[in-house]
Amino acid sequence: MESLNLVALVGSLRVGSVNRAAARAAISGAADDVTLTLHPIADLPFYNGDVEEQGVPTAVELLHDVVGESDGVILFSPEYNSSLPAVMKNAIDWLSRPPRRFEGVPFTMISATPGGRVGLGVRGHFVDIMSHLPVRLFDETLGLGRYFDRVDENGEFTEASVAEIAEFIGRFADFARSEPAA
Ligand SMILES: Cc1cc2nc3c(=O)[nH]c(=O)nc-3n(C[C@H](O)[C@H](O)[C@H](O)COP(=O)(O)O)c2cc1C
Repeated sequence: MESLNLVALVGSLRVGSVNRAAARAAISGAADDVTLTLHPIADLPFYNGDVEEQGVPTAVELLHDVVGESDGVILFSPEYNSSLPAVMKNAIDWLSRPPRRFEGVPFTMISATPGGRVGLGVRGHFVDIMSHLPVRLFDETLGLGRYFDRVDENGEFTEASVAEIAEFIGRFADFARSEPAA
């Protein structure tokens, strides 16, 4: 089977980000026919129409290219005040602007949170936002609640969570490989 090229975007700037650890777990647990690559969004400028008019910034162009050439995108996002962190929303805002290369690209979200609400707020808002954009939205997202119980002393996800993430990505990969509904 042809290898699937997925992109991971992390919506946290923290060096010790648990959501970045979730992305590492996803990369380590990915099936042989799936390549998941982390693409940085921390250095994107804030969306600004004046800046855009002068020319799309290089980092934004690169994001459009990486996403547009991918077979799917997984956002690894914390939940801030029941919603998306500005870093993540900013990346989506830029992607929604020309050259809008994310059209038809499969998208989903994984959110690791400390509490038991498993990121219902951020995942719900993600679905609301993306439903209005021309991406192929996977009908599942994954919440990794109570992350303190899921990571080891080095902050890396333990085997059971790596397997849970891998299973989810397997289902997302099947969706990405399937024919889009007419
Ligand atoms: C401004 C702010 C708001 C937060 N709001 C929520 C929230 O609504 N729900 C939640 O589960 N955690 C919330 N948290 C806690 C984050 O989930 C937690 O800090 C998480 O570790 C951040 O992800 P990271 O480790 O990838 O940076 C909030 C944290 C911050 C800084």
